[in-house]
Amino acid sequence: MIGQTLAGRYQITSHLGGGAFGQTYLAEDTQLPDKNQCVVKHLKPQASDPLTLQAARRLFETEAQVLNRLGNHDQIPRLLAHFEENQEFYLVQDFIEGESLSQILTPGKRLSEAEVINLLQEILEILEFVHHEGVIHRDIKPSNLIRRKQDGKLVLIDFGAVKQISTQVVNAQGQANFTIAVGTEGYMPSEQAKGKPRLASDIYAVGIMGIQSLTGISPRELPEDSQTGEIIWRDRLRISPRLGKVLDTMVRSHFSRRYQNGSEALQAVKALKSGNNLAWLSIFRRVDVIGLLGLLIAVIILLATPETRQEIGQFFKIWLPPEL
Ligand SMILES: Nc1ncnc2c1ncn2[C@@H]1O[C@H](COP(=O)(O)OP(=O)(O)O)[C@@H](O)[C@H]1O
Ligand SMILES: [Mg+2]
Repeated sequence: MIGQTLAGRYQITSHLGGGAFGQTYLAEDTQLPDKNQCVVKHLKPQASDPLTLQAARRLFETEAQVLNRLGNHDQIPRLLAHFEENQEFYLVQDFIEGESLSQILTPGKRLSEAEVINLLQEILEILEFVHHEGVIHRDIKPSNLIRRKQDGKLVLIDFGAVKQISTQVVNAQGQANFTIAVGTEGYMPSEQAKGKPRLASDIYAVGIMGIQSLTGISPRELPEDSQTGEIIWRDRLRISPRLGKVLDTMVRSHFSRRYQNGSEALQAVKALKSGNNLAWLSIFRRVDVIGLLGLLIAVIILLATPETRQEIGQFFKIWLPPEL
């Protein structure tokens, strides 16, 4: 593949990655004066029979449209081209220069609470837009988030739906079945593993990233409660209960108990920040308790007989008038 020119224009220069779903390459756009770098994703359908190809083509067109729309966001790579060559499918997108979060969040690396809250907010701000467009990303994880060199902003890459081109199997009636769930173990909630992803499945992945960056533990090493299926992680470190609760709500094993989409989760994370300014309010609650106790003692003193009043006075070493 290296050295090959696709669509008479994109010359492949190196291999970036790949797996069961397809391969990703770095390429040069030979039709631009600066030979700008771009990324080419190569997707191969499972089989080459006409029905599978037809279904793959339909899916490819739909997903290219979605990626094109999503590319309007500054923190999502633009789709530059999409084409079919020799019954295989290609997507060309902007190359984002920078470091992926998997290079930053290495095992054992821990971020502070404030850093984690900022990171969650950055991811959720992009996800709010994606979900608003009705799209589930399906593969949120550190290697799919690039910290752009140019401006330090996060960029979300590698939308999962398009990978179905390589996983769908078409039956004799021409209906597509997805036999392999798109996603990554550790970041993928159970409903997604069963092939039924929802917007809240992305929230689970974001929550797992939050827990990973707080604890330094990689997601597959986090134990689950065998009764409830909930992830056990709160015992690993002491953090503010409010951040703990927000993360717990993101990673609930059942999707109905999570924040339902990017904007709900974003609101909860932002409230953690504004909540800090209201921390002094908790003093009131403590003052309330002290005040109530004082009031109770005063009532007892008032109602007591002169003898018991004297005894109370001796006990607390204070002077109390024998008669009121
Ligand atoms: N638009 C892009 N800009 C820069 N690097 C990219 C881009 N798209 C992919 N990469 C790099 O290539 C790797 C693999 O591509 P990706 O789209 O994540 O496919 P997959 O994870 O399915 O192999 C990424 O982890 C990233 O390092
Ligand atoms: Mg990837």
